[in-house]
Amino acid sequence: MQLLKSLDELRVWRSQQQASVALVPTMGNLHEGHLKLIDLAKQHADVVVVSIFVNPLQFGANEDLDNYPRTLAVDCVAVSKRGASAVFAPSVADIYPRGLTEQTFIEVPGISEILCGASRPGHFRGVATIVAKLFNMVQPNIAVFGEKDYQQLQVIRLMTQDLSLPVDIIGMPTERAADGLALSSRNGYLTPSERATAPRLYQVLQHTAQQIKAGETVVNALAQARQQITAYGFRIDYLELRRACDLAPAKPTDQKLVLLVAAFLGSTRLIDNLQFSR
Ligand code: PAF
Repeated sequence: MQLLKSLDELRVWRSQQQASVALVPTMGNLHEGHLKLIDLAKQHADVVVVSIFVNPLQFGANEDLDNYPRTLAVDCVAVSKRGASAVFAPSVADIYPRGLTEQTFIEVPGISEILCGASRPGHFRGVATIVAKLFNMVQPNIAVFGEKDYQQLQVIRLMTQDLSLPVDIIGMPTERAADGLALSSRNGYLTPSERATAPRLYQVLQHTAQQIKAGETVVNALAQARQQITAYGFRIDYLELRRACDLAPAKPTDQKLVLLVAAFLGSTRLIDNLQFSR
């Protein structure tokens, strides 16, 4: 496994690749969910490169950029064991040589402004920009993203389509702990008692989807879910039922749906989602 610490090193490495290349973009602090992305990437391409870059452009002023866990040495061991060929871990100066404010950016309108985009202004602009840059740098044939960040995946799909980028986007179902909590680097911020409460979020999503499938009105099912989540000690950012394909508000005729939630437990913001059909 090669560690590529600059764009120049990446370009040399890329020029040597004859076979198909898969990119797994990450911000590091890798857990089993990321490693499963590598497994999936290996099924679709001959060579896998994992990017590890904590992207300042997607963090808001009061968010956890400075404290975001950075564990490059441990991550490289895990990536190597999982059979990826390279890690691309550039510096901020390498990625944004003109600084963050002068940087050209990519904005995917509409979908970037709802749900997480409404609570985190500029977040998806930062995500779309870094992913477009990574695609240009790595020139992968395919790229794999987790469905835990469901809205992010849709933003990236639209960005790739709008800019006619020659990259196949592959979504990977959410990896969960045995108790149902979606794996996330931010779970590491939870205190032991918050960690014990956190799986409730997914349990409520499952129960709510069951109720809607059984014919309960969406308004009632969501009201009950909000009450339960709050009673467990979360502070809800949003809980919404949306159309799975484009995250538009779900109409009674829509079959493929997704429940999406963002909620704070203490100071940690957790997100999760559940796709289902009715
Ligand atoms: O999902 C993430 O870890 C990040 O948003 C991504 C896609 C690597 C872009 O920085």
